[in-house]
Amino acid sequence: MIRIGIVGYGHWGPNHVRVINECKDARVVMVGDLDASRRAAASQAHPGLVTTELPEEVVTSPNIDAVIVSTPVVTHHSIAMSALNAGKHVLVEKPLCQTTHEADELVALSRQQDRVLMCGHVFLFNAGVRRLREYIYDDVIGTVRYMAATRTNLGPFRTDVNVLYDLACHDISFFSFLLGALPESGNAVASSFLQPGIEDVVFGSLKYPGGALCHFHDSWVNPRKERTLVVVGDKKMVVWDDMNSLEPIRLYDKGVQHDQYYDTFREFRTQIRDGDVLIPRVKQCEPLKAQDHHFVECIRDGMTPLSGGQEAREVVKILETLQRSIKNEGRQEVLHWDV
Ligand SMILES: NC(=O)c1ccc[n+]([C@@H]2O[C@H](COP(=O)([O-])OP(=O)(O)OC[C@H]3O[C@@H](n4cnc5c(N)ncnc54)[C@H](O)[C@@H]3O)[C@@H](O)[C@H]2O)c1
Repeated sequence: MIRIGIVGYGHWGPNHVRVINECKDARVVMVGDLDASRRAAASQAHPGLVTTELPEEVVTSPNIDAVIVSTPVVTHHSIAMSALNAGKHVLVEKPLCQTTHEADELVALSRQQDRVLMCGHVFLFNAGVRRLREYIYDDVIGTVRYMAATRTNLGPFRTDVNVLYDLACHDISFFSFLLGALPESGNAVASSFLQPGIEDVVFGSLKYPGGALCHFHDSWVNPRKERTLVVVGDKKMVVWDDMNSLEPIRLYDKGVQHDQYYDTFREFRTQIRDGDVLIPRVKQCEPLKAQDHHFVECIRDGMTPLSGGQEAREVVKILETLQRSIKNEGRQEVLHWDV
């Protein structure tokens, strides 16, 4: 049985406790939170659970094999470093940390300690994203021309990071996962309307090798809750709507024939292929449960995590680069992957 300690029992931490306790090979045995009311909430929901005010007590406890860090992003690096130093396996909520330098330290220490380091890039465990990846890898969609992600709602607002680090982090994690590549350059513009200095709306794009363009619009200040991704390939096009649990994916047999000239609008219309729309059955599973069970599996079987330290480091590097672009009023920034 893998014994797990959770640091941070705010909005998200309780979900980790629930899904880990649904796993036959793991149990949450300890929760650490600075806030007494959150410790009381944990004790009430899970009688018998050991709680502590001190995160160090969780990460150094001899009764714990692995730690899940679900605290504000500014604290991720120091808590995860302490846990790795104490020889624990670590799952850190997204994003892994704030800077590439911090990420490098975490990846190096996890290798040195031979411990699993994984990041909660939960969309890599989403059944819709998995299906899109199959479509791309099986060449159903053809060459991806562009993707456009929208992730908006009115709140919830964070104070520890901006909307780029909070929401766009999700889009960025699955762009690279879907394309199996890293972006060559990117840019973003953002504004803070509600909290000075913390951007609450961002529009950005990343350019991938071969020319695929990936756009994202993320906002905490929007009347519509939307979680969509449009993928346009040269063979087919897909719309994924993560809010539609019954029919999340529509595969459009649409395209344009390039190889003929046309002189009239009527002729132009004949160049457009407007075929069937397929709505595949997508078997849903709770992405957080799949993610946390994968973490347990990686510890138990010595597997390399899907969203391991290295992949999480790449996301942090992209976030850092886009934040620089925001500072520079949307300047295109080049991403070098040899450093
Ligand atoms: N994957 C997802 O979809 C998703 C969703 C929500 C949040 N998250 C991530 O989960 C993390 C937590 O988010 P949240 O919404 O629960 O935040 P939150 O502010 O609601 O909760 C954080 C908790 O951590 C505690 N805390 C703060 N500093 C601490 C420290 N040094 N030691 C111990 N406890 C400490 C706070 O008292 C609080 O109870 C963030 O990294 C966030 O990005 C991920």
